[in-house]
Amino acid sequence: MQRYLMNFDTRDLPTYMADVLVVGSGVAGLSAAWKLAEAGKHVLLAVRDTLADSNTDKAQGGIASSFGADDNPTLHLEDTLVAGAGLTDRDIAQIVVTEGPHDVAELAEHGAEFDRTPDGKFALGREGCHCRSRIVHAHGDATGAEVARALRAIVAKEEHVEPLEHCYVADLLTRDGRCYGAVALLDGKKVVLRAEAVVLATGGTGRLYSKTTNPEGATGSGVALAFRAGAEVMDMEFVQFHPTALALDGCPNFLISEAVRGAGALLRSGKGERFMPGYHPMAELAPRDVVARCIFKEMQDGGMDHVWLDATVIDHAAEKFPMIARTCKEYGVDIEKEYIPIAPAAHYMMGGVHTDENGRTNVAGLYAAGEVACTGLQGANRLASNSLLEGLVFGRRA
Ligand code: SIN
Repeated sequence: MQRYLMNFDTRDLPTYMADVLVVGSGVAGLSAAWKLAEAGKHVLLAVRDTLADSNTDKAQGGIASSFGADDNPTLHLEDTLVAGAGLTDRDIAQIVVTEGPHDVAELAEHGAEFDRTPDGKFALGREGCHCRSRIVHAHGDATGAEVARALRAIVAKEEHVEPLEHCYVADLLTRDGRCYGAVALLDGKKVVLRAEAVVLATGGTGRLYSKTTNPEGATGSGVALAFRAGAEVMDMEFVQFHPTALALDGCPNFLISEAVRGAGALLRSGKGERFMPGYHPMAELAPRDVVARCIFKEMQDGGMDHVWLDATVIDHAAEKFPMIARTCKEYGVDIEKEYIPIAPAAHYMMGGVHTDENGRTNVAGLYAAGEVACTGLQGANRLASNSLLEGLVFGRRA
């Protein structure tokens, strides 16, 4: 295997110095930068495009957290284990369900505007495989954008954080098994980013698939550069396909949140018949991998390239899911009057760079958090809305 993608001599290149290099500006990278800056560390925050380009920005449904009066971390843990199909690391999941609500509450205290009930509590939605309503959301269906906005605003106030936009990290620098920075292309020119530690938060691999809900940057570059630097990767065979992405010729595979099914939307075959109750007792709210496979079977059986999501049964669907309604309308579908053509699309990488409970990899000085990492939380299939939560928890812990 070629160790480095490019030829370079670090002595000849402009060098940026910091205590810590954080790569990526999704929920995990921004959380890490925030907490490092609070601890007085000088952080270089390197992002391939701009700070506002991340998969986090696109997340709709929300953040799973057991805030409900009828809920608790143990119930959340059980649902996480069921979705993970026997391969979830229980200790890691315990950390996430226990600490996650504190991180969500802290983010709200620092300006994230989550939707509230009239008495001021978090309004909680429902998604697949959750036995309780526990999805904290913002602006109905634009939770990721609000989380990212709030974190960017926090980080912008931190003078210890130095953002480097249009900075593509090509390789990690290692010596004697220790990571001491990276070589990158900053505005197309080679530079060295030197740091005592590197936190990778570069997201997943969705863009390797022809049908995907992911943005252009999700090419798996973080896993590849960590692997070249000697990091262990695990569970790369587990790729989650979201069951309901818009399937219209010539249109992007825009995500139709699982929260829409949580609010009562039904899946219908090409003939308009409901099919999920015949496959699973939780019907439309079965674990995501189950629903995606059932849809795929129905598509094959019916010789169709999509099935239908019926949101017409939801009262005021456009009010509850304003961004989805608006986007579908732009593509010619009125979600209150028509069925939405949907098909599964690549959505989330369960595997990644193997880390411990503090984001540490097997390479000294190299950490990973968020989708690029594999903590073992997701097992073989991630529970809906556990990913923003994982990013918050392990961004901070790393
Ligand atoms: C969704 O809103 O359906 C996506 C949430 C997630 O991927 O966890």
